[in-house]
Amino acid sequence: MSGLSNKRIVLASRPIGEPKTDDFRLETSTIAPIKDDEVLIKTLYLSLDPYMRGRMSAAKSYADPVAIGEVMVAETAGIVVESKSDRYAVGDYVCCRSGWQEYFVSHHKDPMTYKVDPDKVPLSAYLGVCGMPGRTAYFGLIREGKPVAGETLVVSAASGAVGSVVGQIGKKLGLHVVGIAGGEKKCAYVKEELGFDECVDYKATDFDSALKTACPKGIDIYFESVGGAVTEAVAKQFNLGARAPICGFIASYNATDITKERTPFHIFGELENPPEHKFFLVFDHYADFAEANNALTDWVANGEIKYKETIADGLELASEYFSWLFSGKNFGKLVVKVADE
Ligand SMILES: NC(=O)c1ccc[n+]([C@@H]2O[C@H](COP(=O)([O-])OP(=O)(O)OC[C@H]3O[C@@H](n4cnc5c(N)ncnc54)[C@H](OP(=O)(O)O)[C@@H]3O)[C@@H](O)[C@H]2O)c1
Repeated sequence: MSGLSNKRIVLASRPIGEPKTDDFRLETSTIAPIKDDEVLIKTLYLSLDPYMRGRMSAAKSYADPVAIGEVMVAETAGIVVESKSDRYAVGDYVCCRSGWQEYFVSHHKDPMTYKVDPDKVPLSAYLGVCGMPGRTAYFGLIREGKPVAGETLVVSAASGAVGSVVGQIGKKLGLHVVGIAGGEKKCAYVKEELGFDECVDYKATDFDSALKTACPKGIDIYFESVGGAVTEAVAKQFNLGARAPICGFIASYNATDITKERTPFHIFGELENPPEHKFFLVFDHYADFAEANNALTDWVANGEIKYKETIADGLELASEYFSWLFSGKNFGKLVVKVADE
């Protein structure tokens, strides 16, 4: 297997504002022979996620930036094609942190490489509803949002990878769940397919009043993923004792200077009675990942939680697909199909 040609996408320059395709470079490397305790993994699906925009920037953050010339970071789902490990056999399906490339050599003790079972849920779902975004929804709502049955939960980016799961778990917990999404098609899906009580279109001119109508008892929990005008509208309707777990604020990620952005921290901090709010990371709950993985795969396998994916074709176009997360062209979890088995 060594000597395999490996297409990979590296960061060529730090994007200013919205990333452009020439901020990335397609390269071909050669896979070296694997050593004892290593496995060679062929990427089948690549996950594209908003956090990657932060890694393209040199600004200080919770994680190191991707270096110029380095392979872009990403979780992928793939298949073991060669093994010198007694823990993995050829044909095993795995998730790993290979980055934007066709092949990845993993040490068998790498904690970010783990087996998954595509007989239980489809392989690509381990990158979305049963993967990092699903776990973010699970811990973000249950542990950070501290829901109580009967309360009103508002979820931004409601049709997306994280938001769609937050709202469905909210319904299971007996909450009145209101989604916020862009456009009639996404709102109809959130309400009719995912079973949220309401979904409000933030691009419509009557957004503020429609949100108020959808939350007649005010807002107890706001699951924050977007920031900007959506957050300004939500902030007017918090009840005393509200919680607003800050998962992200995608509306600011392409800002030329993020330090000058008006973030949810500014918006909530100015309120007379601010909700309890802090940024949380899914990895804060790393010790309990198995709990979320088991719950989510069970719920998806038995149809209790639904999901949607946009599966785009071809690693070469990954940087173009990445921009869809910011325009809303993705509908559900954005995944790139890299190869057939
Ligand atoms: N803290 C953590 O550990 C953690 C982990 C995972 C994800 N996250 C965060 O969770 C959020 C959602 O991630 P995801 O993977 O689920 O993405 P996603 O919702 O599948 O895709 C992004 C969606 O954001 C919406 N959006 C983009 N720009 C917007 C804007 N300016 N105003 C309002 N909505 C906008 C778009 O939906 P519409 O078409 O509806 O506008 C787009 O489809 C992101 O902020 C991400 O950084 C955080």
